[in-house]
Amino acid sequence: MRRGSLVQLVALGVVIGAASTVVALLVPWLPPNASEERDGIDLVFWFTTAICIGIFALVGAVILYSVVKFRVRPDDDSDGPPIHGHTGIEIVWTAVPAILVTAISAISGIVLVQNDRADAGHLNVKVTARQFAWSFSYPQAGDLTSAQLRLPVGRSVELHLQALDVIHSFWVPEFGQKQDALPGQDTKLVITPTKIGTYPVICTELCGLGHALMRTSAIVMKPAAFQAWLKKQQQALKAPPGQAGKAVFASNGCASCHTLKAAAATGKIGPDLDKLPAYAKQAGKPLEDFVKESIVDPNAYVQPGFPKGVMPAFATLPKDQLDSLVKFLIGSSKGSK
Ligand code: CUA
Repeated sequence: MRRGSLVQLVALGVVIGAASTVVALLVPWLPPNASEERDGIDLVFWFTTAICIGIFALVGAVILYSVVKFRVRPDDDSDGPPIHGHTGIEIVWTAVPAILVTAISAISGIVLVQNDRADAGHLNVKVTARQFAWSFSYPQAGDLTSAQLRLPVGRSVELHLQALDVIHSFWVPEFGQKQDALPGQDTKLVITPTKIGTYPVICTELCGLGHALMRTSAIVMKPAAFQAWLKKQQQALKAPPGQAGKAVFASNGCASCHTLKAAAATGKIGPDLDKLPAYAKQAGKPLEDFVKESIVDPNAYVQPGFPKGVMPAFATLPKDQLDSLVKFLIGSSKGSK
């Protein structure tokens, strides 16, 4: 290869590499960083991106150079020269990617092991995934359940994930790391939130019809506000059944899909719960049985006009909470007629 060609190739590679680097650095591709674990995940991300830019510059330079230099004349219909491979180049293009991919797995492995270490005195939260809802419970607060993940800022938390039906995957983009929730197996994810704020919780495993709806929020609060919230929730659950039902309605995320005036809920995905007595009549079932069945086994009867298989089955709701919820729903839907 002539020296002039090599200089041209290198120059092309530098231009393409510089342009790609500018695009990578100037566009804010990643969401804001809100956890300690996110630093490691970003490191792996940028390490991989740097490798990609290098390969892209090399391939782009060779292609552009070839297109310009070896272009045939418009009237040249002859075949290209017969070439039979080149053992040296083949060894290089097998060995280099093998080394790069090994480096990416090594750095990922180190980051995952580091991210897996929770500080002493960490908080534990049980995460339950079901088609198609998340729920979070706090063993240190009598298994209090919430439809949103509330966390105190600056304290590491160990999430213990479980799936009740199929595989789901927990992800808060601002926290970085993803973790699958599997049926019959506990998985663990450590998060140390660093910024107060509200972030989306997303299911990133295609888990069925309602996969796209399987979202909630992670709310990172000041430690004192978090403790106050825990206390308030525990008191709400101890209230008389009619009012306790309202807390159960809120903590299980019913409002994200249903309308119910008594709870100031305006969801439009599922049936309007102010119309429960009419729906029960239509289904030909006694009101109380109908409401209970619709919570525990929602696919037994789906109100016409609404999507089938989308409502999560709340079969594991403790009996006292289920009774409070049914009482609350019947009371408020009758009242709003
Ligand atoms: Cu759960 Cu997708």
